Amino acid sequence: MWQNLSLRGRINLLLALLLALGLAVNIGRQVAEAGPRVQAEDQSVIRLAREFIEMIVADLNEAPDPDARLNQIARDLSRLRHVSITLRDAGGHPLTPPRLDADADTRAPPAWFVALVHPEQTAVSVPVSIRGKPASLVITSHPDDEIAEIWDGIVTQLEVGSVIALALFFLMMNVVGRALAPLQSLAEAMGKLEGGHYDARVAPGGAPELAAICTKLNHLAATLGEAVEDKRRLAERAVSLQDMERKEIARELHDEFGPYLFSLRAHASALAKLADGRDPSADAVRKHGSAMLEQINALQQFNRRVLERLRPVGLAELGLRKALESLSRLWRQSHPDVAIETVISPALGPTGETADLTIYRIVQEALTNVFRHAGATAVNVVIEPVEQMTHDGRGCARVRVSDNGRGMEPGQKLGFGLVGMRERILALGGTLNVVSGDAGLTVEALVPTASS
Ligand SMILES: Nc1ncnc2c1ncn2[C@@H]1O[C@H](COP(=O)(O)OP(=O)(O)OP(=O)(O)O)[C@@H](O)[C@H]1O
Ligand SMILES: [Mg+2]
Repeated sequence: MWQNLSLRGRINLLLALLLALGLAVNIGRQVAEAGPRVQAEDQSVIRLAREFIEMIVADLNEAPDPDARLNQIARDLSRLRHVSITLRDAGGHPLTPPRLDADADTRAPPAWFVALVHPEQTAVSVPVSIRGKPASLVITSHPDDEIAEIWDGIVTQLEVGSVIALALFFLMMNVVGRALAPLQSLAEAMGKLEGGHYDARVAPGGAPELAAICTKLNHLAATLGEAVEDKRRLAERAVSLQDMERKEIARELHDEFGPYLFSLRAHASALAKLADGRDPSADAVRKHGSAMLEQINALQQFNRRVLERLRPVGLAELGLRKALESLSRLWRQSHPDVAIETVISPALGPTGETADLTIYRIVQEALTNVFRHAGATAVNVVIEPVEQMTHDGRGCARVRVSDNGRGMEPGQKLGFGLVGMRERILALGGTLNVVSGDAGLTVEALVPTASS
């Protein structure tokens, strides 16, 4: 049952139990103290009454009418609370009527309470002698009054305490309810996010901690929405780029491959015809042969160009180190005014084909960005292994490209270059950081490698 209770329900239940316990402890304490309290009160009243009577009866015989005086004393004393005094003759028979106990002011205690307090009626006899005739004044304690008073106090406290506890409970329930109100909105917003509605937001409210969580969730939703939108745009762009590339390659195959093949075919059939003739001219054969060679050369170059576009030339053949050096060389040739320093740590072992391609693409895009946007005079490329491991035990390579250019404009959105870079790295389980300042921009990526 406890598990099924909401947080609000649990807090309220605990609060109710706590208040009820407080009330019960207080009442329990009063009930426990009732017995000793009644007894102490009893004894003190009897002692007082006895001293009082002894004092009064001392000079009784000097009164003009001692009998009347004694009866008067007995009647007067019968009005005392908690104690009754009866006059008895020598045989123990009462000479004054017994006192009638009735206290309308207090509520009658229940039998169990009376039994619990367990009162013992105490009676003390004070002997008196009037003109030599023995009699006695019997003082009897009446703890019922005291018990009723205590019971009345307990009931009143229970009533007042219950009202206060109820008021406190409703007040706290209200406060807790208000403080935890955003939890419901948070759960709803999370459900919407789960369903792909990244525009879901929660109005920050309630306790400060919950308000902070609401704000963070809103931020998270916004970031998630942007990331998903970036991904969608990237996928769209990838599809359209792929289409464009295919169309371009098809056009080149058609425009370049087609004529060369046609011309080769023409030369080949001319050669075949020459061979069928009686006396083939060596010059004519040579002419066709060299034309065919030229066209085959052109075809080879064309073939290389297409392959270059399909994948970075030389990455597999030369390896990452040489391919990157060749890339820097090309940039140095086209931009001699920019100092490009490339450091590839000797400790970097083989990283695997996928990581190689990713590292190459990161450096390629970062360098392109430096020359397109940074206006830098120096750029540093460092690739080194790092201690950090991925969760599946693979090692990582850190790729850092930093320039001393103008840095990114504040609020600048990432374009396809950096978003694509991030997607590639995330797909491998790595991370990308772009830090921009007055001193230039640094792109730092952790790329998981094949080696551990
Ligand atoms: N090294 C840099 N120095 C200064 N600004 C930069 C640098 N690199 C990137 N930027 C800024 O960040 C923006 C996003 O870069 P990104 O590579 O994502 O897109 P892009 O280069 O504009 O276009 P493309 O999709 O063709 O790469 C750039 O438009 C540029 O304003
Ligand atoms: Mg770019």
